[in-house]
Order: sequence, then structure tokens, then C-alpha cells
Amino acid sequence: IISLPAAQVSSHGFLNGASRASLKAFQPAFLTSANFRPSAATASSPTELVTEFSALANCFCVPQPIARSEALTRRRLRITASRGIEAMRRAYRDRAEYLGDPDFVKMPIKRLISSYYAAGLRSNILADRATPSSDLAPVTISKPESMHTTHISIMDKQGNEVSATFTVNFRFGSGFVPPGTGVVLNDEMDDFVSKPGVPNGYGLVGNDANAIAPHKRPLSSMTPTFLQTGNGQAVLGTPGGSRIISMVLLGTLDYFNGGDAGSIVSIPRYHMQYLPDVVFYEPGAFTADEIGGLKNMGYHLREIHPYGNMQAITWDYKTGKVTAASDPRDIGKAEVR
Ligand code: GLY
Repeated sequence: IISLPAAQVSSHGFLNGASRASLKAFQPAFLTSANFRPSAATASSPTELVTEFSALANCFCVPQPIARSEALTRRRLRITASRGIEAMRRAYRDRAEYLGDPDFVKMPIKRLISSYYAAGLRSNILADRATPSSDLAPVTISKPESMHTTHISIMDKQGNEVSATFTVNFRFGSGFVPPGTGVVLNDEMDDFVSKPGVPNGYGLVGNDANAIAPHKRPLSSMTPTFLQTGNGQAVLGTPGGSRIISMVLLGTLDYFNGGDAGSIVSIPRYHMQYLPDVVFYEPGAFTADEIGGLKNMGYHLREIHPYGNMQAITWDYKTGKVTAASDPRDIGKAEVR
């Protein structure tokens, strides 16, 4: 197999400027063995796949008795169907794991096409049984980006604070950017009650108090928060639509119970917003006994994925200790300088 280094080809198959220059210095890579002869390969990213596949398959070659006169035209790779399938399965799994536009992704090509790596992959192929794809190491899935927008909490040496929650409401807001501004307009109209009793995107209901009217602002759940006691102060907040209010409530209660920033942003959450008449809760928010007890009391419980992205800072006046934390459920960073 001649392998054109994928770095020279964009994902669309076009050569970029740097690639054109480096192409002059291009040296084809050869994978050869007694059973498999070099041949021209396509100049696209599947090259690595084909090479990896052949490195794998190579070792399953069953030499065919071929008449000398036919050798040049008939010489080809012979492997059993099941071994070919298993080699493909493993190479395609690696395609999913590692390959992408080389302008963006660093690919472990050397390793993938090495015979040592192929030997490792072959070691769990069974001669008499298919390998379920689910038995291979699952492809790494990066944490999906959450639906949430952003909250920042800031406190300076004097105790001045900023608590700012941003929203465009749902994904990409209204989907409209006024030309030349770079600003995505929100779709906050959904925060109004468009019709009494009809739930909005968060399942919230309301009446005329939050009906649409000229110059009126829609009701928001955003709750950027400052807390002060005689002993200290805290700043916190989170994105999260209708659940912001209950998240901030739980964080606030935790602060008053002695929690530091790490605890405030981490404690498991539960949420009830009148309608729907359901208690949503994160794994670990209730003990098994509590769940049983609540069900017996007539609550409708629904466990849901962790949610929210709280940012919190606390300052204890007596000890001088400052703690800052970013919600472990989502992206973010906290720092005390
Ligand atoms: N856009 C969600 C809220 O402000 O509550």
C-alpha cells in the first residue's frame, strides 16, 4: 500500500497551500510483506484505514497455490471471509476513533499502521465466532455541549461582586444575526405566556401577568445571587432555564448550612415547578428510602441527567478563607488569586 500522508489532503480532498509545497517532498510509505504486494492507493484519508486493514489482514493470508505463469496476474490477498470481516470491524472502529481532517486532528498514523498494533488487534479475533462490535473498546465520545448558556461569578479583595447570567434562551436564540453585528438575537419571547395555561418551552405556565404587551419584558428565571451573613458573603448563579431558581435555592441553602463553593456547585439537585406535577431529580439527590417515602406520599418522581452549570465564590470574614468553584457537571473554571 502506498500511503499518501493524510496531512497533505484536506477533508474535501483538496490540497492546501502548505500541502502543495510539502507534496514535493512527499515520500510514499510502503507496507510490504511476503504475501501482500505494494499497489497504488487512493490519495485520501481512507489510505490509513486501508493500510491498517491490510496490516491486520496481512497476517491472515492463506497462500494460494498459483501456477507460476499466472502468478503476476492472479497474485492477490486471500483471507477467510470471517477474518476479513473482523479486520474491517477493527479498522473501521479506529476510523471512528482517530480519523478526521488532518488540519484539525492529530492522528496516530504510525501506530495505527504498525505491525505491532495489528498484532494486538488480531489477538482477540476468534477463529470460530464473530466479535460483537460492542465488545470492542467504545469510541471515545467527548462530553456533549450542554444546552446551557453562561454564568460568571466574581468577587474582589474588597468584597465587590459580579453575578451575571446570560441567555439567548434556546439554541441559537432566534437564529438571526443582524448583518454586521455578530450578535445572535434571542428568542426570549417564549418567556412570555403566549396563551394562558399553555406551557412554554420549559413547561412553565402563566396568565395575563406575563402576557405579551408592547414595551413589556418577559418573566425570567435568571437568578444571579449575592448572599450575605454576619460571618461572610457568597456570590453564585447558573444558567438552566426554569431550573435556575431551584438550583440557586439549593445552593443558597447549602451555603447557609456551612457549604463552601465546591459543595454549593456540586450538591445533587431536584426540581419542582408546579406544572408539570413532577419532581425531577438528579442521580443521588434522594436516598432509596427518600424515594420510597416520597412515592408513598403521592409524589411523581422522574430521575433526569445532571443539569446546570453553577459558579460560586464564598468568603469567610473570620478565617479569611475564600473558596471558588465551577460546576463539575459542565465546562467552566474557578480560580482564587
Ligand atoms: N431565558 C430563560 C430565562 O430567562 O428564564
